[in-house]
Amino acid sequence: PRIALLGVPLEIGASQAGTLMGPAALRTAGIGRILDQLGFVVEDHGDMLTPAIAPAEGPPPANAKYYDVIKTWIRALSEHSYLLAQSGAVPIFMGGDHSLSMGSVNGVARHWQEQGRPLFVLWLDAHADYNTPQTTETGNMHGMSAAFLCGEDGLEGLLGDVPRASIGPERLDLFGIRSIDPLERKLVFDRRVAIADMRAIDEFGVAVLIRRVIERVRASNGVLHLSFDVDFLDPAVAPGVGTTVPGGATYREAHLIMELLHDSGLVRSVDVVELNPFLDERGRTARVAVELISSLFGLQITDRRTPSNAVF
Ligand code: ARG
Ligand code: MN
Ligand code: MN
Ligand code: MN
Repeated sequence: PRIALLGVPLEIGASQAGTLMGPAALRTAGIGRILDQLGFVVEDHGDMLTPAIAPAEGPPPANAKYYDVIKTWIRALSEHSYLLAQSGAVPIFMGGDHSLSMGSVNGVARHWQEQGRPLFVLWLDAHADYNTPQTTETGNMHGMSAAFLCGEDGLEGLLGDVPRASIGPERLDLFGIRSIDPLERKLVFDRRVAIADMRAIDEFGVAVLIRRVIERVRASNGVLHLSFDVDFLDPAVAPGVGTTVPGGATYREAHLIMELLHDSGLVRSVDVVELNPFLDERGRTARVAVELISSLFGLQITDRRTPSNAVF
């Protein structure tokens, strides 16, 4: 099996600069080396180059900061993502802020649509990222990526001539949510988006909730994209993020999620986003992110005779 690493040094979708250094920090923390040790053939496609900004196509939408710059990145990334998925590799998109998922997910969704397999998206995040230019309070586009992917109004022109493959709100799972804006909250409710917020996680535990996500994907012969925003983790574990929110996932919960996802065999592409090395403490957050990627790709504590989903 092959894994394709692609760095996406994008930061202007977020309010704080620094996620541009995310791909370098993940490489320094050994992302390529650990995947290699797990037996994968790892191809590193390097970092995407800053694209020449496409000219404005009329006035950009109000309340979408740096729209023309982000639009240019998303178009280029969407094409790159589509080709990586088509090549049969499992792409890992190393961010960069979360606006990059508009391109990474769109590209892989287009590939799976051609294969007749529905793509589901698991959004591990403190935030819903389900704002539109109409609902946002900040105008930051990293808060709009899930809404864009579900075909919400307001960013229709973003992809230009690049083919669009919406996943639809019924194929999104928001997991770990604990910060949501008022209008955004109403929108995810109206769309009936599946949400495991922190209360649900405390009540039922991550194993029950993740198995539910996995069953849903399996029931429709789908595949899964994991969009991992490192602010999903508790700030005590992952301080290197611009948008920390207290009360996040523990180190152990996060590893268990990754182990269960690994065992499911359904994850075909991954984003690791919002890591901000400028805010990190001696590389801690980058290291944790890489450890979690190891669990996602099969690192186990002990050899297990029975698959973990048969053990209760
Ligand atoms: N909801 C807030 C906003 O729209 C925060 C979004 C944070 N998103 C993120 N990817 N960290 O600005
Ligand atoms: Mn390439
Ligand atoms: Mn996010
Ligand atoms: Mn977030």
